[in-house]
Amino acid sequence: MTGVIIGVESTAHTFSFGLVTEEGIPRKSYSALYRPKEGGIHPREAADHHSNLASQLISRLMEEECLASNDVKAIAYSQGPGLGPCLRIGANVSRALSEQWEIPLVGVNHCVAHIEIGRNQTGCIDPVLLYVSGGNTQVIARAGDRYQVLGETLDIGIGNMLDKFARTQGLAFPGGPKIEQLAEEWHKQNPKANVDLVELPYSVQGMDLNFSGLLNAAIQKVNEGFELGAVCWSLQEHAFSACIEVAERALAHSGKSELLLGGGVACNERIREMTRIMCEQRGAVGTWPEKQYCIDNGTMIAELGRRMLATQNPTNLASSAINPSLRTDHTIVTWD
Ligand code: ATP
Ligand code: FE2
Repeated sequence: MTGVIIGVESTAHTFSFGLVTEEGIPRKSYSALYRPKEGGIHPREAADHHSNLASQLISRLMEEECLASNDVKAIAYSQGPGLGPCLRIGANVSRALSEQWEIPLVGVNHCVAHIEIGRNQTGCIDPVLLYVSGGNTQVIARAGDRYQVLGETLDIGIGNMLDKFARTQGLAFPGGPKIEQLAEEWHKQNPKANVDLVELPYSVQGMDLNFSGLLNAAIQKVNEGFELGAVCWSLQEHAFSACIEVAERALAHSGKSELLLGGGVACNERIREMTRIMCEQRGAVGTWPEKQYCIDNGTMIAELGRRMLATQNPTNLASSAINPSLRTDHTIVTWD
């Protein structure tokens, strides 16, 4: 058997170990999701959740994948961006495994990992990435040796907005999939509905986005007596079309012809449909990986680690510190 690279993801709610072979063939991720008892994420509670599960998850991975420690050729981890206490658990576990197994350590940029697993899975070559997750909403494309952020949210991430709206309606975390379900059910009953039925603000500013105003307006609409399903539908229509508009402009400005979706919100069938329609209209290709590779997962960290190690030295201990505010364009792209 060929060796594997293990990846450790711990930027926020998800703690995940995944692996790819040395040739870049992904295997399963072994993940656990921290769900806050009430309210939003509590970073220290999430970090405790991750550290309590670390040895169990890695043991399961080794056992179910039939691996011995000498099959593992390197260990990669998310160095940022994310929540400090959560990132620190992943980094500590990775340093310990690297030392124990005497294998190279490689710190990777979480946002860039979403791009590389997407390229790995879909075969797209030089895409614009629409990265829509809980904490992040960015439109990214490669320029020279960096992935540049062409547009992004100026306040909260789109998934965060969906989760917060869901919470106000008594729906448990994660709210995105429940909003999708309510919107879809309502739209089936009201196929001719127009977005003006539940009027909400449309918040694109040049290449940037914001979601707080939309969130507050949607809560207001429910309070005014609009049906929850109708508000969920309109909320999705507004939020997703704002993202698609910025993504389309990024395609036009960059001259690229592939749009890749990534991040947890990319699991949503409606944003996928909007992507398909927009790309068809402009002769571009819209693509996305399977859901398991849209949400945060250790496999994507392993895949980026693999690509980095093919062209760079490992991360030494002195430069292995986490960076909660690591920017997408900070990372120099040395691989193909
Ligand atoms: P990041 O650290 O990259 O910001 P994250 O911690 O938010 O990521 P992800 O797994 O990428 O984690 O995304 C989780 C988000 O995706 C949640 O906000 C969740 O509500 C949202 N989500 C998941 N599935 C769907 C869906 N079907 N429709 C809409 N949103 C979804
Ligand atoms: Fe992510």
